[in-house]
Amino acid sequence: MMVTIDKILEKVEDLPSPDFVVQRIVQVASNPNASAKEVSQVISTDPSLSSRILKIANSAYYGIPRKISVLSEAVMILGFKTVRNLALSVFTYDRFFRKGDEKSPIDRKRLWRHFVVTAVIAETLASTVGYPVKEELFITGLLHDIGKIVYDVITPKILTSAYEVALKMKKTFTDVESDLGIPHHGIIGAKLLEKWNFPDLIVTTVENHHNPSSVRESVYSEIVSMVHISDVLANLLYPGDSLSFGDPHLDPEALNDISIKPKTLLNLLEKSKEMISKAKELLDM
Ligand SMILES: [Fe+2]
Ligand SMILES: [Fe+2]
Repeated sequence: MMVTIDKILEKVEDLPSPDFVVQRIVQVASNPNASAKEVSQVISTDPSLSSRILKIANSAYYGIPRKISVLSEAVMILGFKTVRNLALSVFTYDRFFRKGDEKSPIDRKRLWRHFVVTAVIAETLASTVGYPVKEELFITGLLHDIGKIVYDVITPKILTSAYEVALKMKKTFTDVESDLGIPHHGIIGAKLLEKWNFPDLIVTTVENHHNPSSVRESVYSEIVSMVHISDVLANLLYPGDSLSFGDPHLDPEALNDISIKPKTLLNLLEKSKEMISKAKELLDM
């Protein structure tokens, strides 16, 4: 299959950017001096977004003991970064998952579940190892495979054939990409997030989530390894959701990067299952 990476990257440039409100939320939520009031003021300009954020904020996943009915409360209780994550989740879902080609064999509902499950495992893993900003793990986990949905939007034929080969040959999606000579979805996803002005941490992690050894000496080594591990676990929990069918390749060194024992992974898997069962509102947006 002859597709040049330049052609694809060119098309990525034409994809939609987050809505103005979402961009403002990301901006304000990244400013450590912003107040809860400012963050909620920005979100309140979009009533539908506000009510959806409140709905997810009240889900069992966040375990808030009483109902949050006002946005400023959600910001105060959950924090800027979580509210930013929820706004970006709603945006990503609406823009890329809500409607797709009905005749496509790609099951977007299951692909979305792979995004959410990876996000939940990544956030749970970050708490387990005491990573200081677990919210960054949630959003990076959520977006790690966004390159696949980019393929579906700009060249659905490529995604469909990669999917069909992976299914038939029982291969991983990444192996099929290299067999077919198509650019890796990590690179495509990173390109989109770069265009959206996402921080380097997230862009680099998305780009290298299948290959943590390539950033092992960098400051991003821990987060890349965490997303890598979470993706592997998500593929084991829901095989095929991510359009990948061979046994997922785990880089065993990734466990060393975050000083976690293989035995701890089993506990993480159990804890993650419990968290996923509480994340219904994120799964059924
Ligand atoms: Fe991936
Ligand atoms: Fe994945």
